[in-house]
Amino acid sequence: MFAFWGSTLTAQIIDGAAIAKRVRAQAAEGAAAMLAAGGARPGLAVILVGEDPASAVYVRNKVKACQEAGFHSVLETYDAALTQDALLARIAALNADPAIHGILVQMPLPKHVDPQAVIEAIAPAKDVDGFSIASAGELMTGLPGLRPATPFGCMTLIESTGVPIRGKHAVVIGRSNTVGKPMALLLLQAHATVTVCHSATPDLAAHTRQADIVVAAVGRRSTLMAGMVKPGAIVIDVGINRKDDGKLCGDVEFEAVREALGPNGWITPVPGGVGPMTIAMLLMNTLQAARAATK
Ligand code: GUN
Repeated sequence: MFAFWGSTLTAQIIDGAAIAKRVRAQAAEGAAAMLAAGGARPGLAVILVGEDPASAVYVRNKVKACQEAGFHSVLETYDAALTQDALLARIAALNADPAIHGILVQMPLPKHVDPQAVIEAIAPAKDVDGFSIASAGELMTGLPGLRPATPFGCMTLIESTGVPIRGKHAVVIGRSNTVGKPMALLLLQAHATVTVCHSATPDLAAHTRQADIVVAAVGRRSTLMAGMVKPGAIVIDVGINRKDDGKLCGDVEFEAVREALGPNGWITPVPGGVGPMTIAMLLMNTLQAARAATK
């Protein structure tokens, strides 16, 4: 009705771009402190196989972020015809390279390469994507280790609200190995009561309406709509989809859900929410790997 009502009665926006900037500054400070103490410069190797244009943009951004944070970084790009054996040999060389603390092989890989074999070839101490069985096992058992960047970034966004996670009911929508499952484990480790919903969940809304925290990681727009949330909840939108007009959108109907959450709620936008956090957390993982390697 009145414009100012809209701004006072809708959920607060979690500014992922601003929070990512702060995390990247922390990574840069950490790297500078390591160097000042006579230690190594954190080093990340990024491998891209093939010519997927989206992947090319992602890896360039990762390397650029490293440079801006004062990290050492190398980008290795290979023709799509690179054999799996040749790729494994490169990973073995990087595993043995003391200037490299993190290794990231950009996914997806060409069809003739087995991604799991590639992930498992990376030394666990350098697995900055946190995709290996060793990293997944560390997360599962609550041991320290490298956490997958996207769910790690979501946790940082939730923590940024200042709302305690302990004792809250968190609903994760999606069960992928890269987001949904590690997200559920991170929330569990933070003492939330966790429900994981997925494509075979009969009544998604019945779960999300009970949730204090909802993480939508499905990859389908309009997965979470206004009637599906509780006022005051925190909504984290991991989805990156396109609307009919070509504009980016997440898994959440942003404006409607923002209103339904009310003034005590929190919500991440797309773009500018989870997206910028993934590179920031990759830098933190690389810094952590470098610190562990040079202890
Ligand atoms: N492709 C899309 N996202 C990712 C990621 O986080 N890591 C890797 N290695 N590949 C990706």
